[in-house]
Amino acid sequence: MEKKDIDWANLGFGYVETDKRFVSNYTNGAWDDGQLISDSMITMSECACVLQYAQTIFEGLKAYTTEDGHIVTFRPDLNASRMAASAARLEMPVYEEAKFVDAVAKVVEANAAYVPPYGSGATLYLRPFMFGINPVIGVKPATDYQFRIFSTPVGPYFKGGAKPLTIKISDFDRAAPQGTGNIKAGLNYAMSLHAIVTAHKEGFDENMYLDPKTRTKVEETGGANFLFVTKDNKVVTPKSDSILPSITRRSLVYVAKEYLGLEVEEREIYVDELPDMAEAGLCGTAAVISPVGKIVDHGKEICLPSGMSEMGPTTKKLYDTLTGIQMGRIEAPEGWIKVIM
Ligand code: PLP
Ligand code: COI
Repeated sequence: MEKKDIDWANLGFGYVETDKRFVSNYTNGAWDDGQLISDSMITMSECACVLQYAQTIFEGLKAYTTEDGHIVTFRPDLNASRMAASAARLEMPVYEEAKFVDAVAKVVEANAAYVPPYGSGATLYLRPFMFGINPVIGVKPATDYQFRIFSTPVGPYFKGGAKPLTIKISDFDRAAPQGTGNIKAGLNYAMSLHAIVTAHKEGFDENMYLDPKTRTKVEETGGANFLFVTKDNKVVTPKSDSILPSITRRSLVYVAKEYLGLEVEEREIYVDELPDMAEAGLCGTAAVISPVGKIVDHGKEICLPSGMSEMGPTTKKLYDTLTGIQMGRIEAPEGWIKVIM
């Protein structure tokens, strides 16, 4: 299979249309078999529930070329189960796990020419999503849904790659108490748009959102969870009911304990503790682990001792181990890697 003529090394995190996407429709209470199609456009009623009341959920995962030339995905079963949780919260039908994982494989295989080569620094990003498609004008869930997966080759989420980021503590909330912060719904991201544009205008790379109830605890950013390393080399990561249960974060917790022998604490983290941290990073599928060098709390700068030039040493070990597992350089825990071809 010949790869597409793409400048893999200089790809950013953007949309590049690929050849095939998977589409399945839910009508009369059942999903059809679904199929791969070429058309990237969607036609729907002006009154579709997704357009009026934002009934849409999504997932994000990647396909990697391994050192020995296979194409694999990373823990797609966890994306399927998280999407099922998102669907339940927005009164949408579940797309069954086995069918989800199979559809991911079909999309990767059909777009194999777009899977970046090993060592290029790029990956094929997969975006499963589902939305209410029939006309709804009174506020209620749709009855008909569409589930789709498209793919796009991507490079680093943050422009500087591994250069540490400067983030601000946001005055906006991303999630409400008892709200939808723990699911992957489009509405959470709509909420964050004004906050991220504001942060960018002020010269920051990202926002740190606080817990919506007390605004004293660290939650997450608009697209990644936090991971900190304390000065005595413990890995700590926020525990909260209003953050997304990141698959990357859950995997890194395992890697830290089982591969690196580090002590890990998943607990509430207070803003007051931030000056005690040695390293900080944002973790997620798109972000992988992006180091944070500085956190600004209403003009007060908290400079992480790991500095502004490179990743801190423990963050780097976590990054190297996780990406080593994903790219087939390090043996993966049972069930983490699904070989596509
Ligand atoms: N938090 C938010 C708000 C996200 O959008 C994402 C991205 O998916 C994450 C965390 C990281 O989750 P994962 O590691 O499963 O990609
Ligand atoms: C991902 O990491 O897959 C995400 O969904 C983050 C997104 C905001 C780009």
